[in-house]
Amino acid sequence: MHWYEDDVFWSDFSETMFSARRREETEALVARSPLLRFAPGARVLDLCCGPGLYLVPLARRGYALTGVDLSEVMLERARTACAEAGAEVRLVRADMLHHVEPESYDVVLNVFTSFGYFDDPRDNLQVLRNAHDSLVPGGRLLIDVLGKEVLAGWIGRPQLVELDGAYVVQRDTVLDGWTRLRTDWTLVRDGTAQEATITSFLYSGAELRALFEQAGFTQVECYGDFDGAPYDQNARRLIVSGTRATPARHEEER
Ligand SMILES: C[S@@+](CC[C@H](N)C(=O)[O-])C[C@H]1O[C@@H](n2cnc3c(N)ncnc32)[C@H](O)[C@@H]1O
Repeated sequence: MHWYEDDVFWSDFSETMFSARRREETEALVARSPLLRFAPGARVLDLCCGPGLYLVPLARRGYALTGVDLSEVMLERARTACAEAGAEVRLVRADMLHHVEPESYDVVLNVFTSFGYFDDPRDNLQVLRNAHDSLVPGGRLLIDVLGKEVLAGWIGRPQLVELDGAYVVQRDTVLDGWTRLRTDWTLVRDGTAQEATITSFLYSGAELRALFEQAGFTQVECYGDFDGAPYDQNARRLIVSGTRATPARHEEER
């Protein structure tokens, strides 16, 4: 089994990734981010939605949300969060490697480093192609990862994340000449330690932009944060946006 298919991993380390604090921060981020402002009633696919941190605030803004995730545990949490918030959201269990709903969405989101999970780089490109095909012409894909340039600013120091009655130590190792990243996590609770290791591809701004273009996207832009700041020396994230081209008029008429 690959690490990303392991429900035990997503459950055990969920407090690190999906804390109550992050849920609140995501609500605030959705309220202020110009990158997350879409046309009224837009159909939005949150690809790798996890427990629904983005689904709830986006649904509240009136968008028609679908959440896709491979993990039944994550989907169950998303289902509960949406029900508690009174948010109507469609949830689907699927693998992003295969999930395509032709021309069904105005926006596809893939956020909080949910991209680059496959060992074969062609599979990661396939995820972009699937998103492209799931968008209507003129629709937009937005991917948010930790860019290589951002990571280079702080990697090398182990990170300590304090949780309620527990803590996580995170150690990052760059692999294959800055191609991939291995993250080793140790969760310590009640005197016992649990270990997990994840490995994923790393992208620079230029590399992810090129991948978007290879998948057929146009108007590809890189941002350094959800406030729409440029991807420069102050970037906190790497957010790439691309548009599915609208067919030229003569093609439509054929
Ligand atoms: C880092 S979490 C991010 C979740 C969410 N986007 C957020 O902002 O909290 C990555 C999510 O991707 C899901 N996932 C991992 N591999 C997947 C795959 N091949 N297809 C679909 N979902 C996948 C995991 O179950 C997990 O919920």
